[in-house]
Amino acid sequence: MHQPIITGSGVHTPSNVITNDELVVSFNAYVDRFNAAHQEEIVKGDIAAKTHSNADFIRDASGIEQRYVVDKEGILDPTRMTPQLDSRSDDAPSLMAEMGVDAIHKALAQAGREPADIDLTLCAASNHERAYPAIAVEIQQLLGAGGFAYDMNVACSSATFGLQTAADMVRAGSVKCAVVVSPEICSAHLEWRDRDCHFIFGDVATAILVEREIDGATGFRVLSTRCATKFSNNIRNNNGYLRRAHDQMEDRRDMQFVQEGRKVFKEVLPMVSRHIAAHMDDENILANDLKRLWLHQANKSMNDYIGKKVLGRIPEPSEQPNILQDYANTSSAGSIIAFSKYSQDLALGDHGLLCSFGAGYSVGSAVLKRV
Ligand code: COA
Repeated sequence: MHQPIITGSGVHTPSNVITNDELVVSFNAYVDRFNAAHQEEIVKGDIAAKTHSNADFIRDASGIEQRYVVDKEGILDPTRMTPQLDSRSDDAPSLMAEMGVDAIHKALAQAGREPADIDLTLCAASNHERAYPAIAVEIQQLLGAGGFAYDMNVACSSATFGLQTAADMVRAGSVKCAVVVSPEICSAHLEWRDRDCHFIFGDVATAILVEREIDGATGFRVLSTRCATKFSNNIRNNNGYLRRAHDQMEDRRDMQFVQEGRKVFKEVLPMVSRHIAAHMDDENILANDLKRLWLHQANKSMNDYIGKKVLGRIPEPSEQPNILQDYANTSSAGSIIAFSKYSQDLALGDHGLLCSFGAGYSVGSAVLKRV
């Protein structure tokens, strides 16, 4: 058996930013246009008038202050309210592959590795741009990586489940150097016209390089990983190949992200707290041993609650860094962004815990040690 170690991580951040204020101005313009266009039906009581959104509500309810997106104009156009993503020919790299490759190059640079060193490419993300060929195989080719590649999807837990897959394969000896890449183009599966969730997501791509540890290697030793799932309809996206008949339907709302936010809060928080406690118990890790928590980035109150449960006290901001004020929820990439931006300052021997959670439900955690 071999010891897996994370030797590098990287983040690709799109260049466009949408602040809460910008988002709300465009959303409210859309609402005004909608209400004006449907004035008669609204007066008759046939349809409900839409209500304005509010930037203070968004910050207070979620902790989000802005988000990065691939396309800003299409989202903020009140007559459109969805990103304008170029449709590319089959000969051009897919958008997910392009974003993923940039994140991987950053991870490789940190690890001092070359693309040819990679013998497993996992594209672990909550949506994939096409059914096949796998985005991961395209990334493998664009990079010039070896071995094999495939896509996987466990929604917001894709990256941590990918980490477990990569670490287990390194441990077993079937691969030597794996990359888990998570290009999350969340702006394309968010309904920007839905006031309850129009502020939630942003776009990003992350990558982590997981290798067989050799003498003198530096990085984060993967001490153990743990995954769990339990079926729930409370976070759901019905888009899929059997639903093409719906293309003609006006109401395609269920073909994008849909959630029962309150139920998610109530059900996922205890599940995650119990999961982490059991994982730490099995590894004989005490709260005092943990120098950092890199948590899934969906909602600040959720993270505050989990951080307090895990440490038994309110964590210092430096112990539980949040990035969702800048990136919003980026699905499976969120905890990896936090890890990538806030890990290099840990001392040799320090322990940290990475954890994601989301649709499925799913929870994935990893206990890491700085070496
Ligand atoms: N602007 C102003 N008010 C808004 C609003 C908006 N954009 N969206 C909702 N509201 C109002 C609601 O109408 C409601 O008003 P009411 O009390 O008069 O009925 C009130 O704010 C509370 O709405 P609610 O949807 O219950 O808010 P919340 O406190 O649950 O917060 C989320 C909303 C989305 C931030 C929160 O539910 C959340 O983060 N959930 C979990 C997210 C998550 O982990 N999802 C998993 C995906 S990975």
